[in-house]
Amino acid sequence: MNALRRARLYHLHHRTYTEDLPFWVDAASRYAPPLLELGCGTGRVFHALRDAGFAPLGVDISFEMLAVLKEQQPAKGAPVPVFQGDARSLGVAAASLGLVILPCNTFSTFEPRERAALLGEIRRVLRPGGGFVFSAPNPLVLWEAAPQGALRPEMTLPLPNGGEMEVSSAWEREGARFTIRWVYEAEGMRCEWATTHLLEPPETTLKALRAAGFEIAALHGDFEGGDFEPSALYLVVEARKC
Ligand SMILES: C[S@@+](CC[C@H](N)C(=O)[O-])C[C@H]1O[C@@H](n2cnc3c(N)ncnc32)[C@H](O)[C@@H]1O
Repeated sequence: MNALRRARLYHLHHRTYTEDLPFWVDAASRYAPPLLELGCGTGRVFHALRDAGFAPLGVDISFEMLAVLKEQQPAKGAPVPVFQGDARSLGVAAASLGLVILPCNTFSTFEPRERAALLGEIRRVLRPGGGFVFSAPNPLVLWEAAPQGALRPEMTLPLPNGGEMEVSSAWEREGARFTIRWVYEAEGMRCEWATTHLLEPPETTLKALRAAGFEIAALHGDFEGGDFEPSALYLVVEARKC
């Protein structure tokens, strides 16, 4: 299966995940523009922000993900302000942004050294007092997961041109690494997405943020403003450039 087709199936699956969208819209309303979404992918959050009247910029390392994001733009609409690039080296002017967001569990996929580069770059492009907000799975909960979860069917989704896609998932935890694997089967073809999260105590993550020149403005365990607790589903962090 080619990479573009794979990205389209990813989008079909992930657009069913909407619980965080009001949270990102609210975050956008609390900071002065410009706003940049790192790892904007196929546009799940990016388009929700535009629909809510904001004008996000987006960057993603994958051409195929960006191509799918662009496919959702009305044919006669203005070109979408997204670019292909690496969040660790954005090529964006220093102190030029009011808010940087990194939704949907991407922060915890960066290795410690990559993360230092990522945080340094985010701090560089933010104005003083600018926000950096990300959401990640709660590492404390993933630590408690069984070492393996067998592949099991999760949902069946209609394909745009008829037919169906079967979504299954499995996981594996090896020490401080938790890998989730999605399997998509559609039209007799099968493809996989695997994402590995590095598990570290939340306090270590907050320490890394402070060491990189951020203060922690808020810490949540869900997208409704609930406090972070060890049993929370998510680790949602709002940091500000000191
Ligand atoms: C889990 S998806 C999230 C997509 C979107 N933000 C959402 O909420 O649905 C993560 C995205 O981050 C992108 N990504 C991963 N590493 C990146 C990097 N170093 N720089 C820019 N994008 C990156 C991937 O290509 C992928 O599209």
